[in-house]
Amino acid sequence: MKIIGTGCSHPQKIVTNQMLSQMVDTNDEWIVTRTGIKERRVVSSETLEDMAIDAARKALGNAGISAKDLDFIICSNVVNEYVTPALSCIIQGAIGATCPCVDLNGACVGFLYGIDMAEAYYRSGRVKNVLVVSAEEPSRMLSWEDRTVCVLFGDGAGAAVLSEGDNILATRLTASSSTFSLYQKHELQPSPFNTKPNSNLPLVMCGQEVFKFAANASISDVRYLLDKTGYQPDAVDKYLLHQANVRIIEMVREILKQPKEKFPLNIQKYGNTSSASLPILLDELNREGRLKEGELIVLSAFGAGFVSGSCIMRW
Ligand code: COA
Repeated sequence: MKIIGTGCSHPQKIVTNQMLSQMVDTNDEWIVTRTGIKERRVVSSETLEDMAIDAARKALGNAGISAKDLDFIICSNVVNEYVTPALSCIIQGAIGATCPCVDLNGACVGFLYGIDMAEAYYRSGRVKNVLVVSAEEPSRMLSWEDRTVCVLFGDGAGAAVLSEGDNILATRLTASSSTFSLYQKHELQPSPFNTKPNSNLPLVMCGQEVFKFAANASISDVRYLLDKTGYQPDAVDKYLLHQANVRIIEMVREILKQPKEKFPLNIQKYGNTSSASLPILLDELNREGRLKEGELIVLSAFGAGFVSGSCIMRW
């Protein structure tokens, strides 16, 4: 396939490091040096559905196709207010599409899981145009009293329209179960037949363990894709890495011995927006004209599971 359009949407509310330092025992200097984040957008009066729909409409507008031309909608999402129906069904109705749709939970790698699925459906001859939307609201998963996590995340939505082409050169997805390093549990409705305790826990994260996994996974995924396609690191024009921590991105950049300009960042403005991180970055670069036709681009992300994913494509 080929990406023919992108879009994104952000909440209105900006939460700065300074604001967080009035809520928990933290400070701007700690957050900036340890993560690279200066501020993040957080859902207040808007809904995640509205942002997902807005990002989807913008991606369709950018692609120049109508929602009626879509053959499949894949929405990557970890949590939203609806347990059912799927967020993709809500998006489908709002944009006026009629195609089948499905949600997937690939944690922060959801966008790349979506791209991989779209490509597989395309290769099997079942679809021509696919919309992949990533919409995430981690601000509703974590405790705003826990300084080790609340400084890291932000909310947002990003989307891409894929169509006929041979620009996706290779993808790689991995999963290795380590469910106690990063997880959240939420309460379900009581049942008279179920005597198990019901847990309701905000996001739990072992930061250093996630950091090590993330750096190792990203570097091994990128190397795998380069080996598979026969390119050297220098041949890649842009590396778009999951915007979780600038130190992880820097580590990967140094190992690959590449210049800073090849690793665009927007983490300072948005923090970690989970699976929306990559499509938001992609859309920013696209609209700023920073992606040239034919450029070689690598995307890479990691997340709870642990899972990781990467993709090498021509723009
Ligand atoms: N403000 C100030 N101090 C903080 C803090 C905050 N927001 N959060 C933690 N600290 C403190 C710790 O309590 C610790 O204090 P101590 O030395 O007195 O015990 C100290 O800072 C160092 O904590 P540590 O956890 O060792 O810091 P770190 O360098 O590993 O950075 C993370 C912490 C979370 C930024 C880093 O581990 C990380 O980014 N991990 C990956 C997280 C991630 O990407 N998650 C999402 C995956 S999709």
